[in-house]
Amino acid sequence: MQVVKYVFQPHGDERGQLVALEEYKDIPFRIKRVYYMYETMEGFVRGKHAHKNLQQILVCIHGSVKIKLDNGKGETKVVPLEKPYEGLYVANNMWREMYDFSEGAVLLVFASELYDESDYIRNYDDFLEFVKSQDDVDEVSDE
Ligand code: TYD
Repeated sequence: MQVVKYVFQPHGDERGQLVALEEYKDIPFRIKRVYYMYETMEGFVRGKHAHKNLQQILVCIHGSVKIKLDNGKGETKVVPLEKPYEGLYVANNMWREMYDFSEGAVLLVFASELYDESDYIRNYDDFLEFVKSQDDVDEVSDE
């Protein structure tokens, strides 16, 4: 299972650091929405869902967090995000869980779509079914 982590270019000088992110250049899709999580309470797991279409880039701009990705085919990866210049690409079809937020952590998310509850898969068994049905479609179109 491939995990795509971006290392953004900080524009550092004697005043400090600055990271600029542009759609299609640094972020591989048109950015339709940005949101962020902060003041996450200790012990809570966020996410626990997949998306049918939406892609995301996650950047922990302050503190640290762990992201667990699960492709629904028996493969999982845990990716720590702890640098404000690192971004994790999360494809659609990927179950994600965010946990172990450090105190004060801020997780910034760039999303390829507007908020649409019908794009969410919030039940894990439904997710496994969805991945399987996508594979069936791929097999048919390969023939
Ligand atoms: P939720 O989907 O539970 O967050 P996560 O699964 O990433 O932990 O979202 C929390 C609430 O915020 C929920 O009521 C939906 C709302 N929300 C929006 O209104 N717009 C958005 O873009 C997002 C991501 C959430």
